[in-house]
Amino acid sequence: MRLTISDIRGMKQHGEKIAMLTAYDYATAKLIDEAGIPLILVGDSLGMVMLGYESTIPVTMDEMIHHTKAVVRGAKKALVVGDMPFMTYNISSDEALRNAARFIQEGGAQAVKLEGGEMVADTVKRIVSCGIPVQGHIGLTPQSIHQLGGYKVIGKTPEVAIRLLNDARALEDAGVFSIVLEAVPAQLSKLITERVSVPTIGIGAGSHCDGQVQVISDLLGLYTDFVPRHAKQYVRLNDIITEAVKQYVAEVKSSEFPTSQQSFDMDQSVLKRIEAQPQS
Ligand code: KIV
Repeated sequence: MRLTISDIRGMKQHGEKIAMLTAYDYATAKLIDEAGIPLILVGDSLGMVMLGYESTIPVTMDEMIHHTKAVVRGAKKALVVGDMPFMTYNISSDEALRNAARFIQEGGAQAVKLEGGEMVADTVKRIVSCGIPVQGHIGLTPQSIHQLGGYKVIGKTPEVAIRLLNDARALEDAGVFSIVLEAVPAQLSKLITERVSVPTIGIGAGSHCDGQVQVISDLLGLYTDFVPRHAKQYVRLNDIITEAVKQYVAEVKSSEFPTSQQSFDMDQSVLKRIEAQPQS
């Protein structure tokens, strides 16, 4: 049975920490689902770690839907959240609702995520009122990178910290089932976590959040163009893959690969008949 937003909310109430990961394809989603990840985000980080864009800004709805479908096919138990791309929920609430609905209807996701606090609260309220669960995202919001002036910690000054607290409350009032806190000082995340009833999911936001989210390619050491300070590499697949590919190249060159184990035989009598055919 697939987890629901009530299960995720319940985890906060029972003091059970939530481990969330991103996934962008069928095979990875299947692996992390079977390993016990309850919440999977098809993040718009897809643009950087899978599609090679410089930021998340160029990511389109069609790209997100394509990858969400693959993740949903792979994950049988986790609740899958589709990340709404840049400007797909800011122009009007009608457009936001239409795009959120695409994630659920076409993509097969069970929830959507969007960036912003008080500014998007009305939009969140509208989407939730139509039956689509929403996850908020405040702090460092990568879709606003040009406004923020770079990837940095958000909430170090009293004004910005108070604004983040108000943003979290506004999202809670609007009906989100959880809130991602990205690159927020640990002490502020603790305060927000204590003051809202919905789970907070941190990324670079310290250990006091109700859960953590990591980009799968960072965790596995697959994406090395940029490794953020908040990422922990549990393995360096980058090195393992490079080594495997070098070995493959060497074995092809030396004819060590393939062996009879990776080859298929045909009946000797059939071969003889074919050899007997005149050459044209
Ligand atoms: O797109 C993404 O992967 C995200 C996470 C970093 C929270 O938004």
